[in-house]
Amino acid sequence: MKKDVRKAVIAGNWKMNKTPSQAAELAKELRETVAGADCDVIVCVPFVDLQAVSEAVKGSNIHVGAQNCHFEKSGAFTGEISADMLAEMGVEYVIIGHSERRTYFGETDVTVNLRTKAALAAGLKVILCVGEYLEQREQGITAEIVSMQTKIALAGISAEELKNVIIAYEPVWAIGTGKTATSDQAEEVCAEIRAVVCGLYGEAAAEGLTIQYGGSMNAGNADELLSKVNVDGGLIGGASLKAADFGKIVAAASK
Ligand code: 13P
Repeated sequence: MKKDVRKAVIAGNWKMNKTPSQAAELAKELRETVAGADCDVIVCVPFVDLQAVSEAVKGSNIHVGAQNCHFEKSGAFTGEISADMLAEMGVEYVIIGHSERRTYFGETDVTVNLRTKAALAAGLKVILCVGEYLEQREQGITAEIVSMQTKIALAGISAEELKNVIIAYEPVWAIGTGKTATSDQAEEVCAEIRAVVCGLYGEAAAEGLTIQYGGSMNAGNADELLSKVNVDGGLIGGASLKAADFGKIVAAASK
């Protein structure tokens, strides 16, 4: 982290977990656990939990996000949710391009770009996910893959809009596997992403950009990962569903 120049941000990605009543319960627990945080705290919850969680965290330091949005403003897209719908609910953040959406739901770099643009236009802040598969790492093309994902996702996005973007580096092989990237691996790729952003937007924009690491980050490894200068926070899956664990990660980012 480099907290003098950019925000440290810990975000929970609850994925497809918690009914609205369960979500409200966890959110209330989290309110207490993260009350003294010296970093930004976000919970990205299922669409149907947004209302309950927003109410449960009202007046606290917890920000609320969704996990996806469609790129069209409205229309015949059965089962989809627009960025305007989220914004009107008071939702502040949205995750775009998570590898689970790329892998299971046909998300491509191009649709990630469209969704990012739609979300920013609606006034949402975006947590943009990039990351390589294990085979790509083994082939030695991690930097190329992550650079390409970053460049395509940010195509047509202005420097002003970039201020509302967080990039999350999530190596696919580390997600939900218990297999964390080493802090050096995380640092190397986060630095690469920053260099790509520097090439696109210049030094000041790149230095100010928050880049998170995600993939089996937990209470035990958060300190080490966050000690790296280009790792400005975490996008947490499994460990975000336990208030005590999430609280420890937030505490690590608050140092
Ligand atoms: P885990 O922390 O469960 O590995 O999930 C990471 C993730 O995908 C967050 O978006």
